Amino acid sequence: MKAQLESIRSAALSAIAAAGTGTELEAVRVQYLGKKGELTAVLKQMGKLSPEERPIMGQMANEVRAALESAIESQGAVLAEKALADKLAAETLDVTIPGKQAEIGHKHPMYTALDGFKEIFINMGFEIIDGPEVEESDYNFTKLNTPDDHPAREWSDTFYLDEDSRILLRTQTSPMQIRAIEEHGVPIRMISPGRVYRKDEVDATHSPMFHQIEGLVVDKGITMADLKGTLNAVIREIYGAGTQTRFRPHHFPFTEPSCEVDIQCHKCGGKGCPTCKGEGWIEVLGAGMVHPKVLRNCGVDPDEYSGFAFGFGLERMAMGQFKISDLRLIFENDIRFLEQF
Ligand code: PHE
Repeated sequence: MKAQLESIRSAALSAIAAAGTGTELEAVRVQYLGKKGELTAVLKQMGKLSPEERPIMGQMANEVRAALESAIESQGAVLAEKALADKLAAETLDVTIPGKQAEIGHKHPMYTALDGFKEIFINMGFEIIDGPEVEESDYNFTKLNTPDDHPAREWSDTFYLDEDSRILLRTQTSPMQIRAIEEHGVPIRMISPGRVYRKDEVDATHSPMFHQIEGLVVDKGITMADLKGTLNAVIREIYGAGTQTRFRPHHFPFTEPSCEVDIQCHKCGGKGCPTCKGEGWIEVLGAGMVHPKVLRNCGVDPDEYSGFAFGFGLERMAMGQFKISDLRLIFENDIRFLEQF
């Protein structure tokens, strides 16, 4: 047994000295000192020794154990120091290397245009409210006095999300007229910007997703004069003080009377050019006096209250403001385009 202990001592000590990492060292510890380790196995045989031999061997075994434990401890300290030194060497920082340029983005030009627009309306006492893009056809069409056979309801024009044409991607922000009154009551002055969806092919002036800004004013005694005055003031804020406007009769199911509003072409001053397609005028929005049926659909008495509503196209506004010629540039998000604003 003495020889056995001697050989364990020398084998273990050289294994400890050879351990190059903490994991290797721990494996050596388990191999010799663990529950099923070699030294432990020898100790278990102590019972077989004679009473005279037992204390001598016991003492020797304890010495071997103590020697191994202290060797493990000091080798552990050496390895920990080495690991730290390696880590520090690997993580050396060269403070003289030039830094990476952090590229800071900025607001998309269309949202810059929207911010300016919101500012104008906030200054006129309007509230800004948000609404759902997934909408009920009840709000998108029915409560807006849109007849069942109206072409806009066709599956070929509108993205429906269910079989029975109840849920859709809103085709306009006008359902927010209804939701705003239902939620806030009257009198009300609000604008509601957001995405709308139509089954249009992409070209220089069309996209299946675009943005509108709905506006609604309902109060006692609101007239067409309020509509014209408000919209003229807004348009002159956006397009410049001298901007000429033209209110053309039009039709929307939810306004009566309805109109479309054009601005005189800022490029040619009304003579006709490629920007205005030779017209001299550029259409900027649809508007009208809120239809009495729409008010009634929201529980508002049209004999007591009246109002006007309007819908701006945000892309068209941004294109005018930043002189962008193709709608696709707004959505492609090519950094070389966006960097210019
Ligand atoms: N929703 C109409 C459209 O998409 C625009 C509009 C809004 C017209 C409000 C009148 C009043 O064309």
